[in-house]
Amino acid sequence: MLPPLYDQKSRIKLLVLLLALLIAGATVVYTNVLVQRLSEREQSQIDLYAKTLRYIINTEDTKNLPFLQEQIIEANTTIPVILTDGENINDAKNLGLGKGLSEADSVRRMNAVLLDMQKRHPPIVIELAGGVRNYVFYQDSRLLRQLRTYPLAALAVIASLSMMAYIAFSYSRRAEQNRVWVGLAKETAHQLGTPLSSLVGWQEYLRQSDRFREEPIVEELGKDIKRLEIITERFSNIGSVPVLKAENLYHTTRNAIAYLESRVSRKVKFSIETDLPLDTPACLNVPLFDWVVENICKNAVDAMDGRGSITLRLRRVKTRREWWRWRKPRPQVAIDITDTGKGISKNKLESVFLPGYTTKKRGWGLGLALARRIIENYHEGRLFVKWSEVGKGTTFRLILNQ
Ligand SMILES: Nc1ncnc2c1ncn2[C@@H]1O[C@H](COP(=O)(O)OP(=O)(O)OP(=O)(O)O)[C@@H](O)[C@H]1O
Ligand SMILES: [Mg+2]
Repeated sequence: MLPPLYDQKSRIKLLVLLLALLIAGATVVYTNVLVQRLSEREQSQIDLYAKTLRYIINTEDTKNLPFLQEQIIEANTTIPVILTDGENINDAKNLGLGKGLSEADSVRRMNAVLLDMQKRHPPIVIELAGGVRNYVFYQDSRLLRQLRTYPLAALAVIASLSMMAYIAFSYSRRAEQNRVWVGLAKETAHQLGTPLSSLVGWQEYLRQSDRFREEPIVEELGKDIKRLEIITERFSNIGSVPVLKAENLYHTTRNAIAYLESRVSRKVKFSIETDLPLDTPACLNVPLFDWVVENICKNAVDAMDGRGSITLRLRRVKTRREWWRWRKPRPQVAIDITDTGKGISKNKLESVFLPGYTTKKRGWGLGLALARRIIENYHEGRLFVKWSEVGKGTTFRLILNQ
């Protein structure tokens, strides 16, 4: 079952995403309404401008001219307009061409703007006496153009800021999780150390004593001490930077399953197959690698209810180059661990790696989370479910560098 925390987290994520989409949608719709209104206002302003121009050019009544000139023609300080007679530019306003341009540059730019205006709006025709025609070309004001692109720019900025915040947040969360894992592991190794050295002392004492030397109890005690030492070493390796060495993959894997094989029901058959030469090396830390194989195989045994087969197959895999890694990738090898257990349903293939996810009465849900950390963080490899079918079985793939 997925711990309630994860359920809640994914629901919150979905809610935040929906809210963000809603805000983005509302912004776009609202700005569009504003753009529409402003555009209508500019259209009527330009119509009035053209009418006034037509009136001024054609009228003989000079009384109202200064008023019209001032209140309508000169009052247009925002909408770019160009007045032409079809061949020459007679007047231009609000083009924002910049200051200090040479005559030639200014004409070139004006023509470019004119071309742009022709594409955007049909010109307003002003009929003059004698069949002569003037044309008023215009385009949207700078404000209107900015307003059109504003929501896109704002959304792009918000999206990239949110992305950056998300990355920073998950990075700091991962760093915090690392500190917890490492701290706990160090503490565990430390706590185990004291009784362990005392047990070693007791074992030595019994070995020396005439009474117990021959007793099987001493040998059994020795085995348990060995096991405890392995566990302590695992925790201490998790709690520090583990040393990776090129080890023989086949032999290390064999040894890793030997311990389990002797402890689980005889009805579980272990087998190991290899497509690789027997001396193929892989870069690993033995105590941690053993731990991973043990966790995966223990789960397999549980999934088969103590009866079935577990096959480990060593193979070469195509090296994948991660986009964030600068270094050239090293050749990689994989171990596919296949069981004939109850399988994992499609929608849980990733959840099984979450700490706390378990379907067992006495499970902690830590085995696979730990295994993935060991492989991905300490070995720069990968661990994932390669195949699974409910009722048929599962294959976990573990990829290591060479
Ligand atoms: N081979 C498998 N076949 C089917 N289900 C599996 C298999 N391996 C893991 N699972 C599922 O993934 C869950 C998580 O496994 P994980 O090893 O992380 O925790 P756990 O085994 O439940 O507890 P523990 O902390 O003791 O290992 C298991 O409870 C099980 O439901
Ligand atoms: Mg487990």
